[in-house]
Amino acid sequence: MNFGEQFLWVIYPYVALTIFVLGHIYRYNKDKLGWTARSSELLEKRSLWWGSMLFHIGILAVVGGHVSGLLIPKAFFESIGVNEHMYHMAAVYGGGPAGLVTLAGILILTLRRFGNDRVFAVSSMADLVVVLMVLVEVSLGLASTITNVLSIGSFDYRETIGPWFRGLLFLQPDVSLMVTVPLVFKLHVAVGFGIFAVWPFTRLVHVWSMPIEYINRAYIQYFSRDLKAKSFH
Ligand code: HEM
Repeated sequence: MNFGEQFLWVIYPYVALTIFVLGHIYRYNKDKLGWTARSSELLEKRSLWWGSMLFHIGILAVVGGHVSGLLIPKAFFESIGVNEHMYHMAAVYGGGPAGLVTLAGILILTLRRFGNDRVFAVSSMADLVVVLMVLVEVSLGLASTITNVLSIGSFDYRETIGPWFRGLLFLQPDVSLMVTVPLVFKLHVAVGFGIFAVWPFTRLVHVWSMPIEYINRAYIQYFSRDLKAKSFH
């Protein structure tokens, strides 16, 4: 295995995952008050609503697809009666629309961030970089799905990227599994790890607080009867 492959599929992912973990610890300790999605809703509402809704619905389904395609071994699906053809159909007819909805959402969000003067003016470099990275990543993901549909029979990411990814998590990465992977998938995986590396320094940290905040929410909300507080609205 040449050094380039070792670097891309062992060293780089571990560096990215280390920055991901340590970066979150650092950010949490240094910038608790800045731990937010930095909402710009007050500046522009309509395209934010559409972009955000489409992106979040799509990405939830896409995350589900990544868990079943990468973390769960193919043998498990076969043991419960889901054969290659059935899995492929689910990936095409479930994954395809999910990828398209995600792409539509992130496109709207990117155009809004760069195209709306007020939103652009309050955007940090991290905001601009991360939205572009996610746009590129989602486009590459969708291109991978299309390649997958077209290359049926000749390439199976559940026998290559999946076991490599699980090996990485269990500290036994097998680089040889990545060598024959088509370029578009390789680019998708490489940019994906880039996103993990910048994640703690961007608004993406909100991913970890939303659900936790929701679980811990007060079931009954108490509001002040103070008239001054009301007149604020
Ligand atoms: C770094 C780890 C990642 C790996 C190993 C990975 C792997 C894959 C694979 C193998 C596919 C093809 C699925 C198919 O054809 O059914 C795919 C699709 C996709 N990925 Fe990733 N991915 C990673 C990270 C990400 C990230 C961080 C995002 C989003 C920001 C993302 C978004 C997508 C999208 C939108 C698709 C298209 C899915 C669809 O059509 O439903 N991926 N990914």
